[in-house]
This record gives sequence, structure tokens and C-alpha cells, in this order.
Amino acid sequence: MNTTNKEEVSAQQIEQEMEFTPAYRWQHWIRAIAILILIITGFYISVPFFTPEPNSEPTNFLQAIIRNLHLVFGFVMIAVVIWKLYLTLFAEKYKSERVSVLDMLNPVVWVKQIGYYLFMTKHPHLKGVYNPLQLMAYIGLYIVFFILIITGLILYVNVYHEGLGGLLYAPMRELEVMLGGLAWVRELHHISMWIVIIIVTIHIYMAIFNAVFGKQGSMDAIFSGLKWHKKH
Ligand code: HEM
Repeated sequence: MNTTNKEEVSAQQIEQEMEFTPAYRWQHWIRAIAILILIITGFYISVPFFTPEPNSEPTNFLQAIIRNLHLVFGFVMIAVVIWKLYLTLFAEKYKSERVSVLDMLNPVVWVKQIGYYLFMTKHPHLKGVYNPLQLMAYIGLYIVFFILIITGLILYVNVYHEGLGGLLYAPMRELEVMLGGLAWVRELHHISMWIVIIIVTIHIYMAIFNAVFGKQGSMDAIFSGLKWHKKH
């Protein structure tokens, strides 16, 4: 069989599947950009690593500008997290995400999945779209997002007292007291950032691992939406 025939045969054996809808891909990339900007601006708020040229007039306000940028993307992040939660919990097209819970409750899938990452077993057949380790990491990530959003809103009402800041002021100050004071809220916000950095790093490693060893175009899917499967 020559090369051309081989390619023809393999092309016939492969089928295309829509893995991620446009709504899913948009929320993924908007969230990724928002997280990146929040991490950079968050580091700056924490330790201002550059300052403008000294000026006789008080017109630089770099910290305030960076904080403003942080808040804009903070609210983008809140919107996208709510949007994604809605899709995951209620949208019909996202049923496969909810079905992943069944895989998470199945010990056989756990053993096979860990074996796969250790190059010992084949990838388990999944009912849903996420493997159990992946789903656990995502649930953990959303808990951390929730902590970042709540602590972020507490910090926000302490800086802006008008509009939404005024509306949220009373409940957020209550939460601030319950959490142990503003200094600890800020610390919690900062520590949560490091948890996000660790989870996102593992997420990128796993995505590359699956693309290299799964050979199903799984990395492609988050750009084009399409994944490839061998026909049975
Ligand atoms: C991935 C998400 C986020 C990351 C990584 C992040 C990171 C950070 C970091 C590192 C700081 C500095 C804390 C310190 O002083 O050590 C900070 C401050 C702050 N963040 Fe966030 N943040 C995120 C989301 C949010 C959200 C959703 C909001 C609210 C809308 C928010 C509002 C604030 C505010 C108001 C401050 C304090 C500004 C100041 O002290 O003047 N953040 N953030």
C-alpha cells in the first residue's frame, strides 16, 4: 500500500465531532485573558514593581489606573463565571458536562485515568466530557473563583462607595467581619491567586499532554470546536 492509500484509509476511519460550542470557546478565552490581566494587575497592586517619573504635580495615579483595570476585568470575570455556571447547570447542549459527574463517581474510571497518565493503561471510555481528575480540578477552580469574587467584592466596596459599591457595602462589610477583617480578606484574595496560578499551570500541562498522547486534536478543539475520533 503506498502512502496516498494509507492516508485515504485513515481518513475514512476518522470522524469529526463538535467538542466545544462557540459559546463555550468564547467564555474560555475571555476568562483566560481576564485571569492573565487580573494576575498581572494583582501583582502590581500587591507590590508596585514600577513607578512613573516623579512629578511636581500629583497627576500620575498609576496605582489607581492599574486598580481600575483590575476591577474592570474583575467584573468581566464575574460575568463570565456566572455565564459558564448557567451553561453548565442548565443548558441542554452542556448535558455532557453534567454527565461527567457519573464518571467521577465510578472508581474504575479513576483507576484507568490515573493509569493512563502513568502510561500504564489505555484512556478510559467516558460517559461525559471531562475525566474525573479534570472535573475535580475544575470544581476546585470554581471554588477558588468564588473566594476571589467574594473577597474581591469586599475589597471593592472599601475603595468605591458609590453605585454598585454603595449597594453592596452593607452585606460585604458583614462578610468582611465574618472572614476576620480586611487584612485577612486581602491575604485570602492573594493566596487564592496563587492557587489559580498552580491550577492553570497544571491545566496547560494536561492540555499539552492530551494533545501529544491522545492525538485527537484535543488542543485544536478549544480553537475550532472540533475533535477527531476513530470510527468503531
Ligand atoms: C483571577 C482573579 C483575580 C486575581 C488573580 C486577583 C488578584 C489580586 C491581587 C494579587 C491583589 C493584591 C492583593 C494584595 O494586596 O496582596 C488584588 C487586589 C484587589 N482585587 Fe483582585 N484578583 C482577582 C479577581 C478580582 C475580582 C473578581 C475583584 C472584584 C471585582 C477584585 C478586586 C480587587 C480589589 C478591589 C483589590 C484591592 C485594590 C486595592 O487594594 O486598592 N479582584 N487582586
